[in-house]
Order: sequence, then structure tokens, then C-alpha cells
Amino acid sequence: MSIRVLLLGGTGEARELAGRLSDDPRYEIVSSLAGRVADPVLPEGRTRIGGFGGVDGLTAWLREEKINAVIDATHPFAAVMTDSAVQAAERAGLPLLILRRPGWTERPGDDWRRVPTLEAAAANLPGVRVFLTTGRKNLDAFAHDAGRWFLVRSVDPPEPPVPPRMTAVLARGPFTVNEELALMREHRVDCLVTKDSGSPMTAAKLTAARTLDLPVVLVDRPPLPPDARVAGTVDEAAAWLHQAG
Ligand SMILES: NC(=O)c1ccc[n+]([C@@H]2O[C@H](COP(=O)([O-])OP(=O)(O)OC[C@H]3O[C@@H](n4cnc5c(N)ncnc54)[C@H](OP(=O)(O)O)[C@@H]3O)[C@@H](O)[C@H]2O)c1
Repeated sequence: MSIRVLLLGGTGEARELAGRLSDDPRYEIVSSLAGRVADPVLPEGRTRIGGFGGVDGLTAWLREEKINAVIDATHPFAAVMTDSAVQAAERAGLPLLILRRPGWTERPGDDWRRVPTLEAAAANLPGVRVFLTTGRKNLDAFAHDAGRWFLVRSVDPPEPPVPPRMTAVLARGPFTVNEELALMREHRVDCLVTKDSGSPMTAAKLTAARTLDLPVVLVDRPPLPPDARVAGTVDEAAAWLHQAG
């Protein structure tokens, strides 16, 4: 009998894991997306879209679907979903693994300023033409800053409240270093604000900032739930599942 796995996604790693396991007869993978992006890149295999309705809703869903294991491969900043997954898996008595790639590492010559929150980033901006790649939501931290100009890049349009002086660029990565350099030069950006997602798919902007000698404000990840089992790579997550089976 195959193992039914809920794979909470929304990341490249989740898609990679789904692609790797979808043809494996030992597993039945159900990928889950939040439904935030209007036209999401879908993983291979069965996919469901939308929230579960908190811990209670997810616990009920895990039971109804007779799920045997949960892999939380959501974005490192999707902390509400991760907490909900940990609690629901515990209630349903299921093994859970968090697939979380490591954060980025500063290189010699980089000018990175780590901050705990977007609010702290907004209070410590080292420039006046700010490239914000922190997503289309939670821009309220910058919404009262009329003294600076912001370049906001996101897949779907930014969600109000937004900064009064803002240009939105709607685009879906990954971007090359040359594309990032061209965008930053075109808009005469003088600092970058980003979350420490750690993804190689979104690291080109950091290389471009390094090339242009721009300071980077890096928002730290929210902490992982205590005692959580964590894998740093898709290989490790696949190995955990093979062992769990
Ligand atoms: N936060 C980021 O910077 C970021 C960046 C790139 C991609 N993403 C992806 O975008 C999605 C939403 O991120 P977020 O930061 O808004 O999450 P969040 O704040 O942690 O989650 C809020 C609620 O959205 C629903 N949700 C989140 N991820 C889900 C999933 N994979 N499947 C089903 N429901 C999900 C859950 O609703 P219920 O309580 O109703 O179950 C959850 O309580 C995640 O899948 C994440 O991997 C996030």
C-alpha cells in the first residue's frame, strides 16, 4: 500500500520534491498551495489549492484524506502555515518534516544589515531609492515613508497600503544577474531590501547588489517551531520519506 503524503508547497523545493516522487508507486503525493498567486506554477501530480481553515480544518482534512505523513515545504516566511502544520500533524498522530533550505551567507565585501522584521527594515533604510523584493503584501511598513521612492517587484500587483512614491514591476522570477543589474541601474536603486529566503532561484539580486556595491537590508526568518524535524535539501526530505515508509 502506498504512503499518502501531504506536501505543503509554494516553493521551488516543493515542486522539485513533487516532481521526483510523483512517479514513485510507493507514494501518493498531494501538493497544497495557498492560492495567493493568480496563475501559480503547478507541481506535478495531484494538487489542491486554498487554506484548510486553521489547525482544526487541517487536522480534519488529514484524517479525511487518510494522510500518513506531512512535509511542510512552504516558504521560510510562511510561519502561520508551518505552525498550523506542526500542530495538526501532532493532533492527527502523523510524522512531519519541515523542508527548509538554509539562509543566505554574506561574502567578503558585502554590506548586509540583518533586521528581525519588515518594520525594522523600514526604520533602518540605508538609501532613498529602495528596491523592495519582500512580496506584494505587508508593504504597510513602508507606506508612511513619503521621503523615499520604492521599486516594488512582485508577481501580482502590490496590496495596499503601499508607499506614496512607488513604481511596481510585475514579473515572475527567476531573474538572471544581468536582468537584476539592468533593473537596478535603470531605476538608480541605491539599496535593496529582501527576506532571507535562501533560494538560489532568487539570489541573483544579491549578486547584482554586490556588483553595484549597494547595501542590502536582509529580513531574518521567523524561528522554526521548537523540536521540529528539519531537512535542508530535497534529497534529505526524500530520504526521510523513504525511511518513514
Ligand atoms: N511568505 C512569503 O514570503 C512567501 C514567498 C514565496 C512563496 N510563499 C508561499 O505562499 C504561500 C502563502 O504564504 P504566506 O506567507 O501567506 O503563508 P502564511 O502566512 O504562513 O499562511 C497563512 C494561511 O494561508 C494558508 N496557506 C499558506 N500556505 C498554504 C499552503 N501551502 N497550502 C494551503 N494553505 C496554505 C493557510 O490557511 P488556513 O489557516 O486556512 O489553512 C495559512 O494559515 C505559502 O504556500 C508559501 O510557501 C510565501
